[in-house]
Amino acid sequence: MQSYGGRSRGKGPFLSLGRLLLNIALVKTDVLIADKKSLQRSADLLLSGEIVAIPTETVYGLAAIGTQPQAVLKIFSAKGRPSTDPLILHLPSPDLNEAMDSGILSKSIPREAFKLALAFWPGPLTMILPRGSKVPDEVTSGLDTVAVRFPSHPVTQELLQLVKLPLAAPSANRFGRISPTDASSVMEELGGVIPLILDGGPCCTGLESTVLSFLPPEPSILRPGMITSEEIGKITGKSPPIHSQTITKKQSMVSPGMMESHYAPQTPLYLSEHAISKSQSGIEFIHYHSPNILLESNHHILAVNAKPETAARNLYRYLRLADSRKAKAIVVEPIPESPWAIAIRDRLQRASVGTARYVNDRWVLTPKTRH
Ligand code: TXA
Ligand code: MG
Repeated sequence: MQSYGGRSRGKGPFLSLGRLLLNIALVKTDVLIADKKSLQRSADLLLSGEIVAIPTETVYGLAAIGTQPQAVLKIFSAKGRPSTDPLILHLPSPDLNEAMDSGILSKSIPREAFKLALAFWPGPLTMILPRGSKVPDEVTSGLDTVAVRFPSHPVTQELLQLVKLPLAAPSANRFGRISPTDASSVMEELGGVIPLILDGGPCCTGLESTVLSFLPPEPSILRPGMITSEEIGKITGKSPPIHSQTITKKQSMVSPGMMESHYAPQTPLYLSEHAISKSQSGIEFIHYHSPNILLESNHHILAVNAKPETAARNLYRYLRLADSRKAKAIVVEPIPESPWAIAIRDRLQRASVGTARYVNDRWVLTPKTRH
């Protein structure tokens, strides 16, 4: 067991104004490898109204029992997340009928949702469906829909079996930052703020779930992920359009995760307009796959095997690593076409502040023009 107490970001004279305003008491954060004992401790903490970071196949989540409003509120304070941004409920069973009977979903669920649950659960598909009477406003931010998914990570499946209730869980990062894909990244984000991180190893998908809305006029994807529109279309008969274009703060009630600046490192990130074949000190470079240049320590490769799944799995890990180097910029190579490119490019677009080009022996970084 690893145990971390106060960290400079959150302790004593270093307590940031933000944290002070959020009125978060400093706690000792335990990191426990998932086993029978730590799973039981997590379940007990959750059932007593606490929040616990848990592994899922996509990214780590910050969980509370989804039917306990006071516990759910702790998620928002720990993350510094606005209460207008609704949470996903992780269901204890993939059977939508059970979710309807227990008041999590309303009785009017579209047929396509049943088919999709059968096809993709357990797995990284979140469906936004009419909400049942047992879901508190704190979870849905007052919307009459609720986001649900049944995750495939064996640790979280066991935890759900122990608590037998849905777990509300957003990604376990401070609001607007990069989602964590291993326990030490959760520690970086929320150490000193939450009591327990359940360590289930690195996440195998690495990008957040696909979010599919059933709101009229037609089903649409609000956040692209590793389950693609085409795969969904094969089950429902029509590939849903992707409505993940960036939206303004005012419109953010539709799906706040779509806000333009999201998933962002602290170091300004620029999208290269061409393959990266030149280096420059002071810049961290993220290549898609092995380049034909001598690699120095400021170069990182997303997918040595050139597979898009590997690139997705490594994306947040390398963004975090590059960010930790305190460079003046991070430059990322274009992501080649593949069924998953839309999801990877979506995250990079939101993380970026502009574009980069190598001209006349140096990298030229051009900020985005804001509307
Ligand atoms: O893979 C994932 O989905 C991870 C793991 C932990 O499950 N969770 C995650 O949660 O990424 P979060 O809160 O970071 O993203 C959930 C997204 C947000 O963009 C939120 O606005 C949207 O889903 N959302 C949740 N409920 C919604 C609703 N009723 N209507 C529209 N959007 C909703
Ligand atoms: Mg998130």
